[in-house]
Amino acid sequence: MSASQRTVRIAPSILAADFARLADEVAAIEAAGADVVHVDVMDGHFVPNLSIGLPVIRALKRVTRLPLDVHLMITNADDFLARYAEAGADWLSVHPEACLHLDRTLATIRELGCRAGVALNPHTGLDALTWVGDRLDHVLLMSVNPGFGGQRFIPRSVDKIRAVREWLDREAPDATLGVDGGVNTSNAELVRRAGADVLVAGSAVFRADDYRVAIAALRGDSV
Ligand code: DX5
Ligand code: ZN
Repeated sequence: MSASQRTVRIAPSILAADFARLADEVAAIEAAGADVVHVDVMDGHFVPNLSIGLPVIRALKRVTRLPLDVHLMITNADDFLARYAEAGADWLSVHPEACLHLDRTLATIRELGCRAGVALNPHTGLDALTWVGDRLDHVLLMSVNPGFGGQRFIPRSVDKIRAVREWLDREAPDATLGVDGGVNTSNAELVRRAGADVLVAGSAVFRADDYRVAIAALRGDSV
């Protein structure tokens, strides 16, 4: 399938939202055309930062109809899968470095009724995916080193997006390919053309004056 035929989903990352007004922020992106809410969970171990966890996801679930795309940046992801699913995660992505038995982890995520995702750090090769193609619903390709919002997109990620897209077309054609980190209205077209169909964007949405305009531009729609 060519890039222009693919349905593109925009997943604003609430890491860049105003946490004091989180329900309003999520309502605003929903009204502005967001497809998915990206939720970054950090534990201060797997990444050098702390963010939010189960109580916030539970609260978000009550105020939005959008799917919650939960990105686990935590060392003991396996211990928490059931609790994140119960709290309301619809998609659950894990980093292979944090999961000793990735095949089992992905199977568990599906058993819990969630879409199973693998998040690839900038240095992590496609070999992490090689033998789990049949367990995958989503690949979350990190185009920054995880841990912080507002970082600059790593340019060589574009080649990696192409490579993962080629691999998915062959091995897991129903899986989606998300790109996370430094995605903005200037590089979104490049990212989409390379094969991404889920664009995660924190700053590019929540720092914009008009969320609707930002989301449309990321998607490649004219408003
Ligand atoms: C980084 C997170 C990203 C981050 C993206 O660890 O996984 O989801 O919030 O933020 P921006 O779009 O500002 O780079
Ligand atoms: Zn993320």
